[in-house]
Amino acid sequence: MGVVRDVFIGLSENKTLNDASKQMGLRFGAKKVVGGTGIEDTLECISSINDQGMSVTFDNLGEFISDKNEATKEKNNILKMIERVQEEGLTAYPSVKLSQIGLHIDEEFCYNNIKEILTVAKKTNMFVNLDMENFVSKAPTLVILDRLLQEFDNVGTVIQAYYYDAKKDVRKYKDLQVRLVKGAYKEPSTLAYQNKADIDQSFFEIIKSHLLEGNGFTSIATHDHNIIEKTIRFAESENISTDQYEFQMLYGFRKDYQEELVERGYNMCVYVPFGTDWYAYFMRRLAERPQNLNLVVKSVTTN
Ligand code: FDA
Repeated sequence: MGVVRDVFIGLSENKTLNDASKQMGLRFGAKKVVGGTGIEDTLECISSINDQGMSVTFDNLGEFISDKNEATKEKNNILKMIERVQEEGLTAYPSVKLSQIGLHIDEEFCYNNIKEILTVAKKTNMFVNLDMENFVSKAPTLVILDRLLQEFDNVGTVIQAYYYDAKKDVRKYKDLQVRLVKGAYKEPSTLAYQNKADIDQSFFEIIKSHLLEGNGFTSIATHDHNIIEKTIRFAESENISTDQYEFQMLYGFRKDYQEELVERGYNMCVYVPFGTDWYAYFMRRLAERPQNLNLVVKSVTTN
């Protein structure tokens, strides 16, 4: 399993393949997990998800951003998407990776970019989530978040359960809207739990903590039915109303279960990536869960 994972991670990091795929349109089954390559087709995808009673958070795909011009282009694309969502009156908000808008180029430049995004979003009280990347990005992302919180109330972030200090972060941001996740990056044992049982336990601990101790809305982002059903039972036992939390899943994953949760009366938010830079995102999903290869097989056999 580790070898398969490494192969897909290797493919995701190949710049030549990433560049080539931008010219191709969505291929190899990527259509099932990417909302669209442009703004207008992605709006159609968001609209149909809204029609099924689910909200959306959208993610502008962009890899290998290494200079200010590229970062500005990505920021402008995010702004354009926000404005179109506002015009169409859709229930959707952006999830932004700060590395894409200059975090590792110039932190002040990045801060100004995200400030501009928050200002435009705020016009319709739209929330903006700062996605959390690897450990190198964590501290600077939180510094920017803390600065933004002095001026904005429409921003939140992600807390990754695999870190030993996740509980401390949850307490610090207990009154904020946060997304809780297991954590997607490879981090060393000096910083993060390494095995599934420990990560799952930490994940459930921070879910309980955020639901109980603060006033912030809790987004629980996972495809793990065990965690979801345990959370539902916990919330019921503590009389926590369903409007205090939601579940989030990636577009194209466990669609039947997404629909079932909506039918059972729970809030569901679907994470919709979009853009021409779909290739690395798609390879990472294959690395995470090689069973997703059936998306590729189905697309090859039906085309
Ligand atoms: P995990 O992969 O541990 O699976 C647990 C069990 O669930 C599996 O054994 C299987 O039984 C079932 N299962 C999982 N996927 C399934 C599927 N497709 N079909 C059927 N059964 C399935 N990470 C991060 O570091 N920063 C971030 O900002 C974000 N943002 C984010 C947003 C959203 C909306 C999601 C869903 C996830 C993230 N993540 C993230 C990723 C997250 O940290 C984590 O890596 C992945 O969600 C994978 O872990 P899961 O909790 O889904 O379950």
